[in-house]
Amino acid sequence: MPDPDLTRLRTESEAAILGADAPALEALRVGLLGKSGQITALLKALGIMDPEARKARGAEVNELKSAITAALEARKTVLDEAALNAALTAERIDISAPPRPEASGTIHPISRTMEEIAAIFGAMEFTIKDGPDIEDDWYAFGALNIPSHHPARAMMDTFYLNASIGNRPALLRPHTSSVQIRTMVSEKPPIRILVPGRTYRSDHDATHSPMFHQSEGLVIGEGITLGHLKGCLIDFLRAFFDNPNLPVRFRASYFPFTEPSMEVDIGWNRKTGEIGAGGDWLEILGSGMVHPNVLANCGIDPRQYQGFAFGVGIERITMLKHGIADLRLFYESDIRWLRHYGFSPLAPAALHEGI
Ligand code: PHE
Repeated sequence: MPDPDLTRLRTESEAAILGADAPALEALRVGLLGKSGQITALLKALGIMDPEARKARGAEVNELKSAITAALEARKTVLDEAALNAALTAERIDISAPPRPEASGTIHPISRTMEEIAAIFGAMEFTIKDGPDIEDDWYAFGALNIPSHHPARAMMDTFYLNASIGNRPALLRPHTSSVQIRTMVSEKPPIRILVPGRTYRSDHDATHSPMFHQSEGLVIGEGITLGHLKGCLIDFLRAFFDNPNLPVRFRASYFPFTEPSMEVDIGWNRKTGEIGAGGDWLEILGSGMVHPNVLANCGIDPRQYQGFAFGVGIERITMLKHGIADLRLFYESDIRWLRHYGFSPLAPAALHEGI
């Protein structure tokens, strides 16, 4: 004969479970099956019964327990699914909504030129080198065959600092040539380096800024000749100006650290500013075979090793390539100018096919 109390407990509990929300369901579970829950108490009570009675009663209480457990689980599944559906509806993404514009910056033309130069010389297996902006006068001048009080120092209007490094005067490097010295002092040939970086001279007008950028190049090895210098620079200039027929001219010049020294000119039209056309020449970089004194100053035997060096002004070639008339615009951080002359960060630096 089933216990009417148990039957009632089951009917009432099942009804309550069916109507419960999540917190009520948890309260019901605790009240029925928790440590001091009603069904738990019924199960505990079985322990003090005699075996005969416990058998019948045990079966009945356990069936009640299974039924209630199943009802609780079924209701929990229903509630969980409802909660998930509500979240999916509330958090739906509208894929037809127009994207919000993203503010993306541009690559500064100076940085772009440095990247392009690095790509072109990188293809010729040059390594990029860096050096300090503050130098002592041995790295900037002395080792480069420009002794103190030599008139050649006046070629570069140098900023001297009110300080010294060791017992040598400290200065802002007027050219990146100091890094060829640092490299030759610390490395053995063969050397093939490119040194883009900031340089400083006391000069300020539409085509000069007290801070500007140069890139030095240096190649040292056995049997390096003027032919290598010419081939390397012709390839570079034709790649950079993206013109395989760009006229290039080498003109004898003077630098204390190279012998012979050459200024390099490219063909252009003075009237229109067009590069590679017209019968005019435009000076674009300085170069030469590294002076034997410079090699010796750096501990390299000039009878065994030869090499060439060059220096190119980054602002200058950037202005020419992109038709920028005033160098001061590079540093004004005018956002409209930067948007107009800047480059997409996604466009890779171009490499000339011939390289
Ligand atoms: N250092 C020279 C300058 O700043 C450029 C140069 C570099 C010339 C290397 C010859 C060789 O004007």
